[in-house]
Amino acid sequence: MPSPPRRRILVTSALPYANGHIHLGHLVEYIQTDVFVRFQRLRGHECVYVCADDTHGTAIMIRARAEGRSERELIAEMRAAHLADFAGFQVAFDHYGSTDNPANRRLCGEVWQALRTKGLVVSRDVQQLFDATAGTFLADRFVKGTCPRCRAADQYGDTCEQCGATYSPADLVDPVSTLSGTRPEVRSAEHLFVTIEALHGFLAEWTRSSGAIDPRIANYLAGHFLGEPLRDWDVSRPAPYFGFEIPDAPGHYWYVWFDAPIGYLAATAEWCEAHDQTLESWWGRGGDGTPAEIHHVIGKDIVYFHTLFWPAMLEAAGLALPTKVRVHGFLTVNGQKMSKSRGTFVLARTWLDHVDPTALRYYYASKLSGGIDDLDLNLDEFLAKVNADLVGKVVNLASRTARWLEPTGLAATYPDDGGLFAQAAADGAEIAAAYEDGDFARAMRAIMLAADRANAYVDAEQPWKLAKQGPEAAGRLRDVASVALNLFRQIAVYLAPVLPGLAEQAGALVGGPIRSWDESQTPLAGLPVAPFTPLMKRIERSQIDAVLAASKGPEPEPTTPGGSSMDATPTADSGEALAAEPLAATCTIDDFTKVDLRVARIVAAEEVPEAKKLLKLTISLGGDATRTVFAGIKGFHEPAALVGRLVVVVANLAPRQMKFGLSEGMVVAASGAGAAGVYLLSPDSGALPGMRLH
Ligand code: 2FM
Ligand code: ZN
Repeated sequence: MPSPPRRRILVTSALPYANGHIHLGHLVEYIQTDVFVRFQRLRGHECVYVCADDTHGTAIMIRARAEGRSERELIAEMRAAHLADFAGFQVAFDHYGSTDNPANRRLCGEVWQALRTKGLVVSRDVQQLFDATAGTFLADRFVKGTCPRCRAADQYGDTCEQCGATYSPADLVDPVSTLSGTRPEVRSAEHLFVTIEALHGFLAEWTRSSGAIDPRIANYLAGHFLGEPLRDWDVSRPAPYFGFEIPDAPGHYWYVWFDAPIGYLAATAEWCEAHDQTLESWWGRGGDGTPAEIHHVIGKDIVYFHTLFWPAMLEAAGLALPTKVRVHGFLTVNGQKMSKSRGTFVLARTWLDHVDPTALRYYYASKLSGGIDDLDLNLDEFLAKVNADLVGKVVNLASRTARWLEPTGLAATYPDDGGLFAQAAADGAEIAAAYEDGDFARAMRAIMLAADRANAYVDAEQPWKLAKQGPEAAGRLRDVASVALNLFRQIAVYLAPVLPGLAEQAGALVGGPIRSWDESQTPLAGLPVAPFTPLMKRIERSQIDAVLAASKGPEPEPTTPGGSSMDATPTADSGEALAAEPLAATCTIDDFTKVDLRVARIVAAEEVPEAKKLLKLTISLGGDATRTVFAGIKGFHEPAALVGRLVVVVANLAPRQMKFGLSEGMVVAASGAGAAGVYLLSPDSGALPGMRLH
C-alpha cells in the first residue's frame, strides 16, 4: 500500500487565561488535542502543536492589584504552573507562547494595519460602565447582569453562556459590578470598532461551504447571527487596561479577545523562528509546497469568536483560514456542573497529587465522540473502566505472558495465531479513521475489542499450564507467549496517541520505541524480551476520595438551584419510587408526540400568598413567547433562585383557569417515594428556550 502524502498540520488549543489554574474541564480540550497531534505524528505527518497563555485584560489587572504585585509577575507565576500541569498530563506542545510578548505585539500591529488599510476600523463614543468605588471602567468579566438577548440572568459583560451572544457590558440588563457589588454608572468613552459587517458575505459563504465547520454549527451561526447585519466589534478599551496600547490610538488598548487569537499566529511565528521555517508557510495563502492545514480545537462557549471574528480578521489580513474548527462540549462530573462544595471542581494539580494522569487521558478518550455533547466524568464509571480496560485487558496481556519469553525472546518466526494479528491489523484503517474524526470513543471501542480477542486467546491456550508441562511444551509456550506479546504491542501502537507512557514501556519490553502506526501491521519475531516491570496499577477508590476531599471548598458562585438535592442520590438506586408508582399503560409514539415538551426559561417567579403549594412563574419559550404557569413547587424552590433557570414545560397543554389566574402550561418536575421533594428537570448546558424534547 503506498503511504499517504505527508500532511503539514498546525494544531491549536484555546489559550488558557493566565488568571487561573488548569482544571479537569480545561483538560478535556488539551488532552484531546494532544491525542490528535500524537496520532498525526504517528501516521508520519508533520504536526505542530502550539498554544500560549492568554494574559491580558481586566481580570489579570484586578487580580494583580488585589495581590499587590505587577501583572507580569502574576502571569509569569501562572505560566510556570500551567506548564507543570500540562507536562503532568503529558500534553506536549511544540511551543507554548504568551499573548504578552513582542511577537504578539508585532502581529497585532500587522493585523491592525490591515484592518485600517481596508477601512474596517471606526471610532465611536460608547456608554461604558464605570465602577466609581473601584475607580475603573468595568469591562467584560467584571460586570454581571441579564443577557440583553435571551434574558438569561447572571451573565458576564461580554458574552452570554446561555445563548452565545456577544455584546458590550453596557448592554446588560440590571448590571452589577463584581468588584464592589455596586451598580456601576454609565460613562462615555471613545472605543474603536471593527466593522465586520463588511465581511458578512464572506463569512456566510465560508461558514457554510469551506468544510471547516460542522454543519450543525454553521446552521446555528446562520440562525443566530448571520441572518441579520453583524454588529461592529468593539476591540479597544480605555486605560487603565493590562494589554497592548494601540500604536495609532494612544490611551487605547486592544481588547483581550483581539490579541488572544493573534496569539496563535505569534506562537507559530516563535516556533518557526526556532525551527528554521517561515510563518508564511503555515499561515500564508497560496505559495508553493504542500499547503498547511490549520486545526483549532475549542469549547462550545467560544464558537462565535473562532468562526466569525477570527476568520474575519484573517480574511482582512490576507492570512490562511482555519481548515477545521473542532468544537467540544463542557465537562460535568457525576452528571453535574463542577462544584467546589461537592469537591468536583478539581484542579489538574490535585489530580496529579493522587491519581495516575494516564487513566484520565484514557477515560476522556473513551468518552469523546467528536461532537459538542458535554462529557461526563462519572467517577464510578471511571474507576470501573480504567481498571477493567487498561489493567484488566491491556496490561494483563503482557503481565501474564512476557515472563515466559525472558530467557528465550520471541519465537524465531511469528506463529500461527488463527488470524488474530491480521484481524487487528485490518482494523487499523477504521481505528485511524476514528482518530482522524475526533471520535476517540469509537477508536477505543475497536481497540478494546482487539484486546478482548487477545485475552480470549490466552485464556484458551493457558500458557501457565504449558509452563508446568516442562521441556516438551516449551516450544508451544514460546509460541503462545509470542503471539500474546505481539498482540499487546499492536494494541500499544493503537493506544500510543492516548497513552504515550504505555507505548514507551511496551517498546522497552519488546521491539524498541514505537515510532509509526505501521508497526501495528507486521508482527515481530526473533527479538529479545526485556524483564517485565509492572506497567500500570489499579486505581483505588481511596485515591478518588482523596481528590474530592482535597478539592472541597466553599462555592465561589451560587450553585444551580435545586442542584443540591441531587447530592443525596445514592449510587445504588432503590426501587422504592418505581414501586410506589408503577409504570403507566403503554403508549404509542403518536401519543407521545401529542405532548409538546419544550425547553423554557423562567424569567420571573413569585409567591402566590393565598396558595399553599403554588408559585407563579413567567416562562419564556424564546423571542416574545412568554407564558404564565402556576407550578406546585412552593416550599421546594426559592422564587428568586429560579429566575434565569432553564426548565422543561408541557407547552401545548390546554390553558386552565385557576383561582389565582390562567395557567398556560405545566413545568415538568419529578416527585414520588424515596425522597420528599419536587425536583425540576434541567437540560444540559447549551439547550435554548423553545427547543423541543424528542
Ligand atoms: O475562553 C478562554 O479561555 C480564552 N482564554 C480562549 C482564548 S482562545 C484564542 F482565541 F486565543
Ligand atoms: Zn443570552
